[in-house]
Amino acid sequence: MSHNEIPVLFSAEEIKERIGSLACEIGLKIAPDLMIVSLLKGSFVFTADLIRALHTIGLRPQVDFMTVSSYGTGKESSGNITINRDLVEEVKGKHVLIVDDILESGRTLQFARNLITERGAASCKIAVLLEKPGKRTTPMTADFVGFTIPDKFVVGFGLDYANYYRELPYIGTLDIH
Ligand code: IMP
Ligand code: MG
Repeated sequence: MSHNEIPVLFSAEEIKERIGSLACEIGLKIAPDLMIVSLLKGSFVFTADLIRALHTIGLRPQVDFMTVSSYGTGKESSGNITINRDLVEEVKGKHVLIVDDILESGRTLQFARNLITERGAASCKIAVLLEKPGKRTTPMTADFVGFTIPDKFVVGFGLDYANYYRELPYIGTLDIH
């Protein structure tokens, strides 16, 4: 399927502008000595733009990555979260901002937040680029949300379908029957 067949939900320009204002929101509400825990793979594009937007407003975040998975290769969540690649840095005593691509059932972020809290972080907040309301299986809210979206499967800007489409500079909707 050609990428041109994926309808745009948010353009690259809209995303850039939103991430800029999200960084300002974060800067007002979070300790300046924050550590970003970016959940791979979906959040790597968002994280890259967000940390540069945070730089623009004068923040100097530390950054680390962790790979956890709940989805298999398809569109349905398996429900089981496992750590595929753990953090390298200690989070003990740090003000952590977990960054993820999308909040859907909430299982991934609940798992990640519990882990960070158990490891002794001083505080733990959550930023997601996208949120799908009405899909939560666990009471989880993000502190910072880029866009709230309808219940559609989206790809691009780091988000995948079977590990494809992450390179799209925009967020589009994928209709697979
Ligand atoms: P949750 O644990 O159900 O909240 O799922 C979060 C993870 O599922 C995200 O980090 C994504 O990797 C994946 N996911 C959920 N919805 C979508 C979607 O619409 N497109 C691509 N990935 C999605
Ligand atoms: Mg994914």
